Amino acid sequence: MFKNIKSTDTLFKKGLTIFLLAVTAIMFSSAVMAVQSLRGDTALDADANKVVKHKVDTVEGGIKRSFKLQPPMVPHTVEKYSITLKGNGCMKCHSEKAYKKEKAPKVGDSHYVDRDGKTLDTVSSRRYFCNQCHAPQVKSEPLVENVFEGI
Ligand code: HEC
Ligand code: HEC
Repeated sequence: MFKNIKSTDTLFKKGLTIFLLAVTAIMFSSAVMAVQSLRGDTALDADANKVVKHKVDTVEGGIKRSFKLQPPMVPHTVEKYSITLKGNGCMKCHSEKAYKKEKAPKVGDSHYVDRDGKTLDTVSSRRYFCNQCHAPQVKSEPLVENVFEGI
């Protein structure tokens, strides 16, 4: 009697193990199918494919905005201009003082307004980190399809 119970118990355990293994295998294989790693199908112990370097696009006259109030894209390279506590390299050309001489567009008036609506003499700390909103562009194919239509 006791022996019998034990054997049903082992049988149950065996069945459960097989069931769990099957579920895990199905989940794992569908996860593998769904997610395409950035490494592509390169073997784990091989070096990843070299990342293709793209040159930053220089667009004379600026890049067309896709929607009203879009922070305009940066139409030039930016790696030489640093933004630190001590100074803002972008403002060397885009500030009220410099823009005419540098033939650069002046930062928007909104950039001098602080969070209380007061207009300041220098760029507001809300707009200090230019590259938080303005990004340079490269000539490359979009990574994913984008059907966004601006106005
Ligand atoms: C050496 C001067 C200079 C510096 C420094 C500079 N820019 Fe510019 N920037 C320009 C000029 C000139 C243009 C206009 C280019 C054109 O329209 O052909 C421009 C255009 C832009 C525009 C496009 C504006 C629009 O209305 O389309 C943005 C945005 C911009 N710059 C952001 C930046 C940011 C962010 C930095 C710092 C990382 C920076 N710039 C540093 C000279 C400069
Ligand atoms: C929080 C986001 C944000 C930050 C940070 C920011 N901008 Fe802008 N910028 C905008 C938006 C939005 C516009 C378009 C509307 C406007 O002018 O306010 C703009 C417009 C501009 C323009 C075009 C102005 C015109 O009249 O066509 C220039 C040039 C510019 N920004 C440069 C800068 C520079 C340089 C910095 C850093 C000192 C900076 N921005 C920081 C969001 C930002």
